[in-house]
Amino acid sequence: MKTALACPVCAAELTLGATAAVCPNRHSFDRARSGYLNLLLSNKKQSAEPGDGLAMMRSRREFLQGGFYDPMAAAASAAVAEIVPGRPYGNVADLGCGEGFFTARLNTALQALSPAIGCYGVDISRPGIKMATTYNRDITWIVASLHHSPFQPQSLDAVLSVFAPIDAADVGRVIRDDGALVTVTPGPDHLDALRIIIYTSVKPHPQTPALMANDTRFEQTASTRVRYPIVLDSRAQILNLLAMTPYYWHISRATKAAIEELSRLELTVDAYVSVFRPRAN
Ligand SMILES: C[S@@+](CC[C@H](N)C(=O)[O-])C[C@H]1O[C@@H](n2cnc3c(N)ncnc32)[C@H](O)[C@@H]1O
Ligand SMILES: [Zn+2]
Repeated sequence: MKTALACPVCAAELTLGATAAVCPNRHSFDRARSGYLNLLLSNKKQSAEPGDGLAMMRSRREFLQGGFYDPMAAAASAAVAEIVPGRPYGNVADLGCGEGFFTARLNTALQALSPAIGCYGVDISRPGIKMATTYNRDITWIVASLHHSPFQPQSLDAVLSVFAPIDAADVGRVIRDDGALVTVTPGPDHLDALRIIIYTSVKPHPQTPALMANDTRFEQTASTRVRYPIVLDSRAQILNLLAMTPYYWHISRATKAAIEELSRLELTVDAYVSVFRPRAN
C-alpha cells in the first residue's frame, strides 16, 4: 500500500506491507507483532527508551477509559474532521499520540467521513505505541520523533497535537498548503484543584500554545474552549491523573502523601482546541 510515509534513511516513499515497510532503495523496517512500525533510527535516539514510560502510559490509559476527556476528544476530532472535507481520501497524523486515545477517537470520526482517509499515530515512546495498537489496527502506529516526523513533504491534510510538543517547522514541511494543524492545549483552569494542591500559586496557561506563539509560518484561524467539571471519586483515579501529568515528577514526598489520602476530587477540565493554517507565501 502506498503511503504518506518517508523512509527515515533516504526520505523516499515507504510502501507498507503486512510485515514490513520498504523504500525503493531497499531500506526495510519490520512491523512488530502487534503491527506498529519502528521508524526511529537507533543513532537518533537520545536515550534507550525515549518518551513517556510504561507506568505513565498505563495511568493515562486507565484514566482515559473513565470518559473524563471524552468531550475534549470529540471537540478535537470535530475540528480535524472540518479540515478534511470534500475529498474522499487524505492523510491525517496525531503527533505525540501517547497511548492513542485521541487518535482512536479521531479515526472513528474520520472513518464516518470516508473509509479512505489514512490515520497515523506517532510517538517516540515504544510502550505508548505498543499499547495504542490495542485500540485499532487500521491506524498506522509509528515509533518516531515528531522533530523528524516520518512523512513526505506536503503529504498530510491535518496534524493533531494533544498536550504534546509541537515542532512548527516540521509540521510546516509535512502538511499541505490547504491543510491545518489542530492543537489541544491546557486552558487557564485545567485541573485546577490538583494544581492548587501542588502549587501554592497557580500559574495560568497561555491561550496560544507556547511553542506556536512566536511562529510566523502559521496563523491561528480558530480557537474553541472546552471547559467542564469532573469528579474523581476513587483514589485510583486520582493517582492515575497525577501520574499522567508532568506535576507528578516535580512534587515533594509530603505533597504526594497528601494526595494519596484523597478519595474524592472535584476539578475542571479546560482546554483550547486551536486551528492553525499555513500562511500563504
Ligand atoms: C502529555 S503526553 C500526550 C499524549 C497524548 N497526546 C494524550 O493526550 O493522551 C506527550 C507525549 O509526547 C511524546 N513525545 C515527547 N517528545 C516527543 C518526540 N520528540 N517525538 C514524538 N513524541 C514525543 C511523549 O512520549 C508523550 O506520549
Ligand atoms: Zn530508504
